[in-house]
Amino acid sequence: MFTMIQLKQLQLPFSHAALLLMLAAVVGVGQAGSQNTPQQQVCPEQGDISPCICTVKKNGLDILCETTDLAHITKSMGTLKGKSPIIFYLKLRHNNLPKLQGFVFLALDIRHLTIHNSSLATIEENALSSLGTGLTQLDVSLNQMKTVPSQALQHLFHLLILNLNHNKITVIHNNAFEGLGTLEILTLYENRITQIDPEAFRGLEGKLKRLNLGGNDLSRVPQKSLSILDTLKKLEIQENKIRSIIEGDFEGLVNLDSLILAHNMITTVPANVFIHLTQLNSLELEGNKISVIDKDAFKGLEENLQYLRLGDNQIHAIPSEALRPLHRLRHLDLRNNNINVLADDAFTGFGDSLTFLNLQKNDIKVLPSVLFENLNSLETLNLQNNKLQRIPQDIMEPVIDTLRIIDITDNPLNCSCELTWFPKLLEDLKNKDDEMSQKKKPLCHMSLDNREYFVQAMPTEKMHCAGLNIIVNP
Ligand SMILES: *[C@@H]1O[C@H](CO)[C@@H](O)[C@H](O)[C@H]1NC(C)=O
Ligand SMILES: *[C@@H]1O[C@H](CO)[C@@H](O)[C@H](O)[C@H]1NC(C)=O
Repeated sequence: MFTMIQLKQLQLPFSHAALLLMLAAVVGVGQAGSQNTPQQQVCPEQGDISPCICTVKKNGLDILCETTDLAHITKSMGTLKGKSPIIFYLKLRHNNLPKLQGFVFLALDIRHLTIHNSSLATIEENALSSLGTGLTQLDVSLNQMKTVPSQALQHLFHLLILNLNHNKITVIHNNAFEGLGTLEILTLYENRITQIDPEAFRGLEGKLKRLNLGGNDLSRVPQKSLSILDTLKKLEIQENKIRSIIEGDFEGLVNLDSLILAHNMITTVPANVFIHLTQLNSLELEGNKISVIDKDAFKGLEENLQYLRLGDNQIHAIPSEALRPLHRLRHLDLRNNNINVLADDAFTGFGDSLTFLNLQKNDIKVLPSVLFENLNSLETLNLQNNKLQRIPQDIMEPVIDTLRIIDITDNPLNCSCELTWFPKLLEDLKNKDDEMSQKKKPLCHMSLDNREYFVQAMPTEKMHCAGLNIIVNP
């Protein structure tokens, strides 16, 4: 079988690509080869592979090496060479591996490689190149890398998932991922990225489906670099320092399904900013400083947007005009804003498909009598922590048959016969055997005896709520 010395001799007269092809042929790692003989894999003796631990899994060996160093790992890997097993998982965690040397994994068929929390700062150019035919997942998270190890990655031509989370990368250079033409998921969460060059993702167009740039130091959307990613479905840029988004920022992302811009410093959602995202289903903008939403802010999203999260912002009123064209909208979250007044027509013209409405933690004092008139599909309503003294039955009437979850706790409610719809609704939900996920019980204040009661247990006789015939469940 193959040895290091033989390969080193081979290396000189051949190009790198030729070398890899030969290697693949000799070791028998090619995809076709590995598919037609599903052999039972066998672990080496525990004594031989120590300090690593080997277990046999359905698709190959699962090898775990923790709190050790390169010398021990190299020795353990040595016991596997020449046996050509499929190593389905090789997990190296909490080790001392500042540098991954060339050819450490030579002659090994590794499908999923993890090098996690191991002080890894340098991956030599040839450290991974022999894995090109088999490796589909590479996780080098929680290490010390300051740049994308482009040279080491460029021969991983079957890679599907690359995880570079929790490193110290500051800049993504042009062509950083060149050669990774099969990559579908790239995640760079919690690095220190301030700059992404215009051609940074060149080579990933046509396949990349998910990109996570969250937890970095970007001050704007890296528009140029993103614009080629026409297959991208999910883009995460949460927890950065983006202060403004502008028209054109998302141009080219024609297949984007989910955009996460939460926890940035955005103050305004300007007209047409999402106009290119006609396939977008979910938009998360919570935890910004949004106070202004242009009436054309959501233009382009009319046909597909179903989930819109605007919680933890500084919005003063339901942005009804901007929302009205979103006739597929199902889920609207406006929790923890500064909404104090609701217009009569706040939900008119777009409420039809709404199933989830969260208005928790605002300053709403009064619900207009026609507020819920259009919300024919509403199942979840959260009014917790507002300033409501009354929630009369006639306001709730349009939604009472569809509601499954309601939260009206933490409001200064007055006990009153007009609130008896609430215990009735709870009883109904219980009869429908529905999981009433809301376990908290709302309180109301009764001026008659200056006491607090659970709304479910209001003394309706004392209150003369005659003829209302409610079932009271203390
Ligand atoms: C990282 O590894 C070190 C040992 O090298 C360990 O003490 C530490 O708890 C690990 N950290 C995490 C987050 O796993
Ligand atoms: C609620 O009760 C208080 C006194 O207990 C009263 O001053 C207030 O007007 C009542 N609010 C409404 C909306 O009825």
